[in-house]
Amino acid sequence: MANRKRQDIQIGIIGGTGGMGRIFADLFRQEGYRVHVSGRTRGPDIPTMADACQVVIVSVPIGITREVIEQLGPHMKEDALLMDLTSLKTEPVKAMLQSSPAEVIGLHPLFGPGVASLSGYTIVICLARGKSWIAWVKDIFTKQGAILIETTPERHDEVMALVQALNHLNSITLGMMLQQWGIDLAELRKYATPIFHTKLDIIKEIFTNNPRLYAEIIALSPHIQKILDLYGKTLADLKSVIDKKDTEALTRLIRERDIGKS
Ligand SMILES: NC(=O)c1ccc[n+]([C@@H]2O[C@H](COP(=O)([O-])OP(=O)(O)OC[C@H]3O[C@@H](n4cnc5c(N)ncnc54)[C@H](OP(=O)(O)O)[C@@H]3O)[C@@H](O)[C@H]2O)c1
Repeated sequence: MANRKRQDIQIGIIGGTGGMGRIFADLFRQEGYRVHVSGRTRGPDIPTMADACQVVIVSVPIGITREVIEQLGPHMKEDALLMDLTSLKTEPVKAMLQSSPAEVIGLHPLFGPGVASLSGYTIVICLARGKSWIAWVKDIFTKQGAILIETTPERHDEVMALVQALNHLNSITLGMMLQQWGIDLAELRKYATPIFHTKLDIIKEIFTNNPRLYAEIIALSPHIQKILDLYGKTLADLKSVIDKKDTEALTRLIRERDIGKS
């Protein structure tokens, strides 16, 4: 791979008309590569993309990622590189390995489409098959200032179940409770502490910008059942002492958790 020239590499992004796809299309264009993008009704079809491009990246909604990869995989060549940007990694990486003969790398950028550059932002990398493209991938992202974390798809999904699925579920719970309370958010903001302002901003982002993404991150997480069970158990534990107004027991419950010490 190291011997390949920039003009020999064309990059295809399926979902390149969307938020994240566009960021990566711009990035590769800035680096001097020819980039083809497609969406549901725009751009080359899947066989044409696989035929023209040495690197193909899938960046479509999580719920249809497997289906798109299964259509694309058989068209990929053995010496090509297949990657995805999906927020979950176990199922997409498995689908890329099963459906294509290509080299496979799973990516998860830990930022949204609003960033001006990759500088200081983290990208998770899951090396799945082949070694000839990884230096090229790392070189492009590190040159742009990104921080790279290498892990397995399974470990990624376990950690992101907490960073994203639980975290977003928590924000959605708060948002839905505020809405059911019936309070006017503009009034609430007048009383907000700085941290609560930030929480309200997060809730607004989730409820107005791409709710499908948050729904899929939560509901399709392989750890969602454990999260829901723990959520219910934790609330029940808290309720049992709060019902009794047992502040000492509540203090003990909080203190015993040792959170914040590491
Ligand atoms: N947004 C984030 O903050 C974020 C962060 C990290 C990772 N991701 C991951 O990035 C991926 C894309 O998310 P996004 O936020 O960029 O979504 P998005 O803005 O909704 O874009 C989705 C893209 O997929 C295309 N698409 C939809 N259905 C398709 C189909 N059946 N066949 C082919 N293309 C199809 C859309 O094309 P048209 O609309 O032109 O038809 C569009 O280009 C997801 O896997 C997500 O988990 C998102």
